Amino acid sequence: MDGNGRWARARMLPRAIGHREGVKSVRRTVETCIDKGIGALTLFAFSSENWRRPSDEVSKIMDLFVNTLKKEVAALDRNNVRLRFIGDRSAFSSNLQQLIRDSELQTAGNRQLELVIAANYGGQWDITQACRKLVDRVQAGELQAEEITQQSLAQEMCIADLPLPDLFIRTGGERRISNFLLWQLAYTELYFTDILWPVFDEVEFGKALDWFANRQRRFGRTGEQVEQLTGA
Ligand code: IPE
Ligand code: MG
Repeated sequence: MDGNGRWARARMLPRAIGHREGVKSVRRTVETCIDKGIGALTLFAFSSENWRRPSDEVSKIMDLFVNTLKKEVAALDRNNVRLRFIGDRSAFSSNLQQLIRDSELQTAGNRQLELVIAANYGGQWDITQACRKLVDRVQAGELQAEEITQQSLAQEMCIADLPLPDLFIRTGGERRISNFLLWQLAYTELYFTDILWPVFDEVEFGKALDWFANRQRRFGRTGEQVEQLTGA
């Protein structure tokens, strides 16, 4: 969700106002997913690298997390949205950690939309924590080192229970993954738009979905094979 700061600066507003405006885009995007029956949405809210920002901006973003959770969880729950967080949450204040736990518990039974918030998340961190879990299992004698496979590692990655992402959308003009879901994005269609996150709306989301609908997903096969398989 890139471009909050530039959106604000272009209006001579402080960057934090851009983040606040970005929350409105989150709400719109979640509503669009519900309308369209999209089953899972993962939002990159705060990367493990974002701590390098000025401390004032970091603390405003943390306040926004706290306030947004307090305000939005009831409505998400009513809309049958399951909320969960991926990333190293131990770096957050105990208040925020408590809100995260409560929101996950409250919405755990919901099925309309899996809404995943990546916060203090990094794809390299994710791969590393998955390796550590495998090592723990080897040390506990539950798993032989030779049994470590792509599948056993995949099972320890965050959101391993969800389908792999079909579509990645990056707003704000950069053509980078920036340490988002590195493992999980292996076969994901990558969509980049110059639109800044606060102005990303259902029309822009629709453009990304239309673009996605016209991609041929080959997963290593040839175009001819895929046409035979799909009867296209
Ligand atoms: C929001 O956009 C992403 C967060 C880390 C919260 P930015 O804050 O990166 O906005 P730009 O790139 O400065 O415009
Ligand atoms: Mg940015």
